Amino acid sequence: MSSDATSPNKAAWLPAAQANIEVGPAPMPTPAGTEAVIQVHSAALNPADAVVQKRGLLLQPENYPFVLGNDIAGIVHAVGPNNTRFKPGDRVTALCRAFARKNPAYGGFQLYSIVDEPMLAKIPDHIGFSEASVFGLGLATAAYSLFNKNALALDLPVPGGNAPNGKLLLIWGGASSVGACGNQAAKAAGYTIAATASAKNFDLLREMGAEYIFDYNTDSVVEDIVAALKGKGEMAGVFSAIGTPPALAQCAAIIGQLEGRKHVATVRPPHFPALENWPEGIEISSNLSTSIAENEVGRVVFGVWLEAALADGSMKCRPHCDVVGKGLEGVQGALDIMFKGVSAKKLVVEIA
Ligand SMILES: NC(=O)c1ccc[n+]([C@@H]2O[C@H](COP(=O)([O-])OP(=O)(O)OC[C@H]3O[C@@H](n4cnc5c(N)ncnc54)[C@H](OP(=O)(O)O)[C@@H]3O)[C@@H](O)[C@H]2O)c1
Repeated sequence: MSSDATSPNKAAWLPAAQANIEVGPAPMPTPAGTEAVIQVHSAALNPADAVVQKRGLLLQPENYPFVLGNDIAGIVHAVGPNNTRFKPGDRVTALCRAFARKNPAYGGFQLYSIVDEPMLAKIPDHIGFSEASVFGLGLATAAYSLFNKNALALDLPVPGGNAPNGKLLLIWGGASSVGACGNQAAKAAGYTIAATASAKNFDLLREMGAEYIFDYNTDSVVEDIVAALKGKGEMAGVFSAIGTPPALAQCAAIIGQLEGRKHVATVRPPHFPALENWPEGIEISSNLSTSIAENEVGRVVFGVWLEAALADGSMKCRPHCDVVGKGLEGVQGALDIMFKGVSAKKLVVEIA
């Protein structure tokens, strides 16, 4: 934690593994290269924020004190010397890469946070900061599984949307944050979407443009999906936004019975143990979400498509935000709610 009380920055510090958040002064960041410093207005939560805090995972003792937070929206405060895309005053949504950088200056739960090009996009005036804060890690995770060359490697989305290519994509967990982002990005890339959710969230899936919708809670969901999709086109694969072994076994059982690419792209990070009894002949890929900042996928999805799709209204801020806290003092309460789990909503703290 910074002892510089003259800095205009303040952070919601995680002082040590499994400790509670403490709000205190933080150094004022200076952007280098193509970075930008964002004055954070709203920050959304991800399951990883809560799990890292409560279980002490991912971070080493030397990484503390740390600043959590991956998804922000706010105003560009300053840009690095090589950042020609943005200027102070631009309203943006962004992905913070604190976990990848292991550097608290890149965490989202603070008044001023540094973000890397290209993981930020301008937002139109009619979209509020809390609505716009819902994308960061959800979109990066979906983009990795869908478009990265060592995952499904689908066609990338383009502004205005690709023409439908006739290929089918199954998204397991379409009401999750990752699933809702993936549904919209894959649709814009030209794929026909089939998705699963609880029945109460079917309207959200329809709004995202899913053409085939299934309740994953039913005993017959695997048979129902196979029966509905058989003969309807070539499968481009499955994207499972849910990384549990039972969900992935269901995805494998489905794709094994359909024509096309037999690949299940998962949200499981590469260091997770391999799944037991994974069926032969079905590829499975893991997910290193924020690494897309360093390749073509990040440049196209965040740097080009997201901004255009927000401007033309084709990318919706979903799942809907639910503002559960105000100010940096609201971060701990929001983490407590996140740890219990959510259904089809994105928890947000209005930071400023
Ligand atoms: N590898 C990475 O870098 C990375 C990055 C980000 C996230 N992740 C992982 O990705 C997963 C999704 O994250 P998120 O932020 O999208 O989570 P989230 O929004 O909190 O997910 C909640 C949703 O999951 C759905 N769900 C739960 N169990 C399901 C099942 N068995 N089948 C289908 N849907 C199910 C629920 O749908 P209903 O409400 O309709 O029941 C609920 O709406 C998490 O496990 C997260 O840890 C990985």
